[in-house]
Amino acid sequence: MPKTIIISNRLPIKVQRTEEGLAYESSEGGLATGLGSIYKQGDNVWIGWPGTYFEEDSEKKQVRQDLHQQSMHPVYLTEGEIRDFYEGFSNETLWPTFHYFSQYAVYEDTYWEAYQRVNQKFCEAVMELASAGDTIWVHDYQLLLLPAMLREQMPESTIGFFQHIPFPSFEVFRLLPWREQLLQGMLGADLIGFHTYDDARHFLSSVSRIVGLNTSQGLIDNGFRNIMVDAFPMGIDYDKYASLATSEETHAKIAEYREALQEQRIILSIDRLDYSKGIPQRLQAFELFLKENPDFHGKVTLSMLVVPSRDQVEMYKQLKETIDELVGRINSSYRTITWTPIQYFYRSFPIEELSALYSVADIALVTPMRDGMNLVCKEYIASKVDRKGVLILSEMAGASRELADALLINPNDLGQMVRTIREALLMPEEEQITRMEHMQEIVQRYNIHHWVSIFMNRLEYIKEKQKAMATE
Ligand code: G6P
Repeated sequence: MPKTIIISNRLPIKVQRTEEGLAYESSEGGLATGLGSIYKQGDNVWIGWPGTYFEEDSEKKQVRQDLHQQSMHPVYLTEGEIRDFYEGFSNETLWPTFHYFSQYAVYEDTYWEAYQRVNQKFCEAVMELASAGDTIWVHDYQLLLLPAMLREQMPESTIGFFQHIPFPSFEVFRLLPWREQLLQGMLGADLIGFHTYDDARHFLSSVSRIVGLNTSQGLIDNGFRNIMVDAFPMGIDYDKYASLATSEETHAKIAEYREALQEQRIILSIDRLDYSKGIPQRLQAFELFLKENPDFHGKVTLSMLVVPSRDQVEMYKQLKETIDELVGRINSSYRTITWTPIQYFYRSFPIEELSALYSVADIALVTPMRDGMNLVCKEYIASKVDRKGVLILSEMAGASRELADALLINPNDLGQMVRTIREALLMPEEEQITRMEHMQEIVQRYNIHHWVSIFMNRLEYIKEKQKAMATE
């Protein structure tokens, strides 16, 4: 029976060493949460890194066995690979460039060499498990070279690639010394997907200008095959979040939070610690809001959850300090004996607690400087069973293309953010409900299952088209 092989750098499960032995936890980030609910079907398998360095063969064997029972297959990274491939090329070269922070990008040959080696390592892991007829689905910027490596080994195979982060404009992408090899790597796929049309358009423009291939109407002709490029905005498991919001556990948490927060209006912000998320800018906007709106002192709390991420990378360490300082400064200036303006948490939360926070939040403040999609805002919408609540969303998040009923802001415009926070706090309930209903319709319809099936159907379609063209 043909199967689907999903490959991403990070598995949806993180393995950690604890005093009691190995512990398995869900991974952070959009990709893991988004695909987490679908890979267990049939003989499908997910190949990826379990998130920890393992030295002992006995541990590796144990992890492999445990993961196999859950349809996962580990690729182990050495300490050097974690440093040069994961922290280095993936997160100090590609991540900043693709998020338009090219001033943070490090161009380092040793990183590039490690990136090629680790992509090869993933290729070998896929070859061990793949059979003819399988569908191979590669995910994200850590594995841009993998589609072409797989194509070389299995010229007839069906390969999809999806990029979960933005694809920058040609003028930014061309800054990368390895731009052509990266594009050639991606072009090993039959279908290349992005969250938005703009990302797809930027990619096509880079392919035509750097590789010199013809790219008309979302099709690239590389002389052997037609490769299709399109936008597939990713959704969430809507029913999971909607039903979680009405579960007993969530209700108990909601009651606990309401009791603790009394009559406070809650503004919620949830992100991984990342400079692309605009956390300092959001804090500055909240500070300015407090300065300009004394009538809200004592009445509004910003509940800010920051999930630790890539904490060995220099820019992330610096960002952590900036956030700590800003929160300290704002709280110490405005707090009273009975009110703390910002509740700041630096850790991850179990999903039931997130669900309760989404439920009690009057406003979700989602203001990235740049974001491929952003699933947090969709989770907020799905969790709002009473349909009351306002989403403030950055224009720079892919999700803003679908969610026209959010209050859209430019995260560089502090004044606009401040006015929008006030507008959201004063929005009549009726308007909140109308906007929320529209957004719920969209998020419910274009859910994760829809996303997977549209992508897979399109992949099948392009394969058929390639065959038809070959026999013409
Ligand atoms: C984003 C990326 C994912 C990545 C996640 C968490 O969502 O698109 O590929 O896994 O961030 O980042 P990390 O570096 O912890 O895997």
